[in-house]
Amino acid sequence: MNTYHYVDASEAPLRDGTIKLHGPDGFAGMRKAGLLAAQILDALTELVVPGVTTGVLDDAVRRMTLDAGAVPATLGYRGYTHSCCTSINNVICHGIPGDKVLRDGDIVNIDVTPLLDGWHGDSSRMYLVGDVPLKARRLVDVTYECLMIGVNMARPGVRLGDIGHAIQRHAEAHRYGVVRDFCGHGLGRLFHDAPEVVHVGTPGTGPELRPGMFLTIEPMINLGKPGVKMLDDGWTAVTRDRSLSAQFEHSIGITEDGCEIFTKSPRGLDKPPY
Ligand code: MF3
Ligand code: CO
Ligand code: CO
Repeated sequence: MNTYHYVDASEAPLRDGTIKLHGPDGFAGMRKAGLLAAQILDALTELVVPGVTTGVLDDAVRRMTLDAGAVPATLGYRGYTHSCCTSINNVICHGIPGDKVLRDGDIVNIDVTPLLDGWHGDSSRMYLVGDVPLKARRLVDVTYECLMIGVNMARPGVRLGDIGHAIQRHAEAHRYGVVRDFCGHGLGRLFHDAPEVVHVGTPGTGPELRPGMFLTIEPMINLGKPGVKMLDDGWTAVTRDRSLSAQFEHSIGITEDGCEIFTKSPRGLDKPPY
């Protein structure tokens, strides 16, 4: 039995657990918001260099977002006061920008969420700071592959357990750990909505994808074990075993025969080297 409920997005404005199905207006809105997210991430490729602070990158994200007539959805979100998340090395996600200086050899995820004309574009990429050791670059490459395995499977009839399983299989074949404590999500007019997109799973389980669904896929992959530890700031999630962690995120919309990637880089800068 399928216990998931799908509704026309125009009839369900709130976060009520139903999976919203959007029409052409939603696709048009997400296309614009997603493109802006991608353009911001594109522009960051030139700014992520040894010696820069994550606070300077956050300022750049805020300026680019506001200049485009959008607002960073993270600004004021549940008490978060920054325009992006900057997650360095063993930080899995939700790293808070500040005085921290990027060093040669670091890997960093930058996650941006412009809210444009009522629609959320949510995307993140990994950036290599200077000369990065091969082990870390491999982790980044495989994490991007995990994202794209999920994206390329996304079409009507496929279930989220099928996607989670495929991502998990690929990561674990490289002896990496897939984070369970954070997941992808539905989005659109809401930042975080149903369904939860877990990056592990069992084939044939979970909600079935249908045309008009909007969701993110955003696997977090650890060089070591999957365990997470939260820092005292209440936001920063780090690997329990202090191993490196990588993540990429796209926002997608399910079409009749596949999916549209709203956050694809117009300059082909979807993954490093940039
Ligand atoms: N952008 C993140 C996501 O992919 C959410 C960040 S919420 C914040 O869902 F408050 F930590 F910024
Ligand atoms: Co997201
Ligand atoms: Co995000």
